[in-house]
Amino acid sequence: MLRSSLAALLLGALITSVAGCAVTREPLVLDPSPSASSMPSASPTRTPTPTPAPTPSPTFDRAARSIDDPASAWVVVNKLRPLQPADFVPPNLRVARIAATQQLEMRDGTATAAEAMFADAAAAGVPLRITSAYRSFESQARINRQLVQQLGQERADIASARPGHSEHQTGLAIDVGALSGTCELDACFGTTPQGLWLVENAYRYGFILRYPDGLTAITGYAYEPWHWRYVGVELATEMRETGVATLEEFFGLPPAPAYAG
Ligand code: DAL
Ligand code: ZN
Repeated sequence: MLRSSLAALLLGALITSVAGCAVTREPLVLDPSPSASSMPSASPTRTPTPTPAPTPSPTFDRAARSIDDPASAWVVVNKLRPLQPADFVPPNLRVARIAATQQLEMRDGTATAAEAMFADAAAAGVPLRITSAYRSFESQARINRQLVQQLGQERADIASARPGHSEHQTGLAIDVGALSGTCELDACFGTTPQGLWLVENAYRYGFILRYPDGLTAITGYAYEPWHWRYVGVELATEMRETGVATLEEFFGLPPAPAYAG
């Protein structure tokens, strides 16, 4: 079975890091307060006045952060956009104070956001755990090699990034599951209370669903309801409000269904 193979391989991967653990925070706003909106008066005695033009919202600056720098929270990594350098190791890796199947590191900003999200999810009755986070070039190479051996190159390529092409190597991606393990690393996670809660709420903590259902032709990967990518609250909220599902579309980049060479 493809699913059980993936789950076994991905869960079995030993994720280690040799990077340092400085505690510098990501310079991203994690929880901007929504601006207060004034309620219209319902008084029947009020003299009708022309509806004022809505205040234009500030234009979102799509160039505010680099999409090329692997240390940027907006970096776009896909089959056509490898990490540069390929052996990039992110700064400020640390273990988040969240449930996990093993000790896993991620970028400090990712960890801080995940800690808030996991606490709120537990309070909402949908406790979570992670099964993967930062993966070095070598870890990714090992996982990818195992999948290619099991599934063949074509099937492996829509499930696992080749080394130097994985968001996990940025320290910004986490694989999230139910604390119970139900539907772990399986498409059915998307229909669990946890998966549904994440779809509705993860953007408020700065996470986007990076590989949505039906968009393999753009992202290059099959539906992964467990793979959440930290981009910061500002971008995650903008993508949600504009209804743009992928980083490729949001930044006007070409679809990346396959590797160039
Ligand atoms: N499973 C995702 C695509 C990765 O290997 O990075
Ligand atoms: Zn993942």
